[in-house]
Formats: sequence, structure tokens, C-alpha cells
Amino acid sequence: MKILLVDGTIIGQKTSAILEQTRLYLLEASPEVEVTILKLADYQHQFVDGRPLGEYNEDMQHIAREFEEADGYIIASPIFQGSIPGVLKNVFDLLHPRTMRYKAVSIVANGGTYQHHLVIENQLKPILDYFRCFVTPNYVYTHTSHFDEQNRITEEDVHDRLRELARVFVKYMEMGCTLSKETLDTH
Ligand SMILES: Cc1cc2nc3c(=O)[nH]c(=O)nc-3n(C[C@H](O)[C@H](O)[C@H](O)COP(=O)(O)O)c2cc1C
Repeated sequence: MKILLVDGTIIGQKTSAILEQTRLYLLEASPEVEVTILKLADYQHQFVDGRPLGEYNEDMQHIAREFEEADGYIIASPIFQGSIPGVLKNVFDLLHPRTMRYKAVSIVANGGTYQHHLVIENQLKPILDYFRCFVTPNYVYTHTSHFDEQNRITEEDVHDRLRELARVFVKYMEMGCTLSKETLDTH
């Protein structure tokens, strides 16, 4: 089973730090999973404007392929201006609506304002619901104060929640993989 860990920003360090920690807990929860990190900062992005996928640059096509080939996703996002980064929304806009259908997704996020975990509830989850993802009931929202100066997570509770998220995510991904292609094709 292939998990795509999406680092949904082109600036900052903490999103990547949470994702790296999540990767370790996923491997702990299920050593046989294949984990790939897709760091949006590593790609040349183009605005999605409705053209066929083949007319975007190689990087955009690569991103779409990585999403297609994965069995589940960890979406990592900072909060920018009370929302998710534009670059991450642009990637969602790139995908065919069936790309993530009935595949597991967990969310990890970080922000400078405690209350902005609601951005996950009110903005990110509805997008994933549109894609008909199996979004795990637990997500992890971290605040700047949960990190030390080297961007290591210092809050033990955050580690506990990430471990739990990884455990539940693996179960959701197994559930998604058991749905046959035939079932998906008829709906
Ligand atoms: C342009 C910009 C807008 C931001 N807006 C918010 C915001 O609305 N709410 C919030 O909680 N944090 C906001 N932040 C803080 C980021 O979420 C925070 O920098 C990030 O989670 C910490 O990661 P970093 O140290 O790697 O940048 C903003 C940061 C930037 C750069």
C-alpha cells in the first residue's frame, strides 16, 4: 500500500517537520507500507485553468500521477490568512474528481493561532468530502508553541495524537483498498 505524504506549502519548515514525524509513526504502525513525500516546494506550479492534463508542465503532471497512484494520503497544511495555502488548493483543482475516491486521508496542520484548527473543519474537510475520501475522524493541529527552535515537536501530547492518527489511518487505508474496482466503476 502506497501512502502519499503531501507537504502542502512552498514556504516554512514546520509542515515538513510534522510530516516527517508522521512518516515515522506510519512506519511504526505498519512497517510494510510504502511512504512517499511530495513536497510542493520542489515543483514548478502552474495555475489550473481547465486545460487537459497533458498540456501542463512535467511537474504538474508528476503531481497528478503521484496522487493517482497512491492508496492513501496524509495532507499537511499550514494556515495562511485563515485558509489553506493557495498552492495546495491549486493542486486539488488539478485532480480528477475520482482520483482520491474512497481512499484514506488524514490531515496534519499547523498555525500561529489556536482557534484556526477550525480551518481544517470548515475548509479542508469539505474539499476532501467532495472527493469522497475516507477522512479519518482524528487530525492533528499543531501550534507554533509545540515546536522548539529547530522545529522539533516538543509537546508529548502531539506525539501521542500523531501515533494514534497513524494507527487509525492504516486501518482506514486497508478499508479503502478492500473496495473492488467494479464497485467504484458502477457509481
Ligand atoms: C502569509 C501567512 C499567513 C498566515 N496566516 C495565518 C493565519 O491566518 N492563521 C494562523 O493560525 N497562522 C497563520 N500564519 C502562520 C503560519 O500558519 C505559520 O507560519 C506556520 O504554521 C508555521 O510554520 P513555519 O514556521 O514553518 O512558517 C500565517 C503565515 C504566513 C506566512
